Amino acid sequence: MSRITLVDIFKHRITQKYLQRSGINHAVSVTSYAFSFAQDYSVNVDLAAKAALLHDMGHYEWYRDGKWDYEEYRKHDIHAIKGAERAHKLLIRLGEDRLVAKEVSVAVLLHTDSYLPFDLTAIRTPLQAVIYEADVKDEQPLGFHHYKQMDKQEAVKILKKLDDKIEEHLDNDPDSRKLSS
Ligand SMILES: [Fe+2]
Repeated sequence: MSRITLVDIFKHRITQKYLQRSGINHAVSVTSYAFSFAQDYSVNVDLAAKAALLHDMGHYEWYRDGKWDYEEYRKHDIHAIKGAERAHKLLIRLGEDRLVAKEVSVAVLLHTDSYLPFDLTAIRTPLQAVIYEADVKDEQPLGFHHYKQMDKQEAVKILKKLDDKIEEHLDNDPDSRKLSS
């Protein structure tokens, strides 16, 4: 089976719909960070990049009087839960391996504990920790990282380069294809 690429995922209409909300720039930046952290921690780079690209696809825009309402968002947010389900559905539709779809979906679910009454730091797997750290690295106060701009063509260019690097990495190190995270 040929690999489902980041570009395949990005171009799908479901991704386009939901990444408009959380921001293409943030999604692509976190994907780049996750790729390099995954190499540092010997985590499967394909899983890490896919989970990072999709990690915020569960976001809803919390507006009040035409402006982003950060307090409202913090109080009612369950974006990781919605994102995990959306990421899974999307990957299965694209024909992704079911185990990859599950690992990515769980990494999306656990990339933040903002919606939980407890801290996940001690229980994240290395893959899940990579997504958490990559997200934090791109975060800005009051959620402004969701509003940084990047046009679609620029995003595709960056993701294509990452796809090439991921394939090169997987070819050079067949062990890194392992799913265990
Ligand atoms: Fe994020």
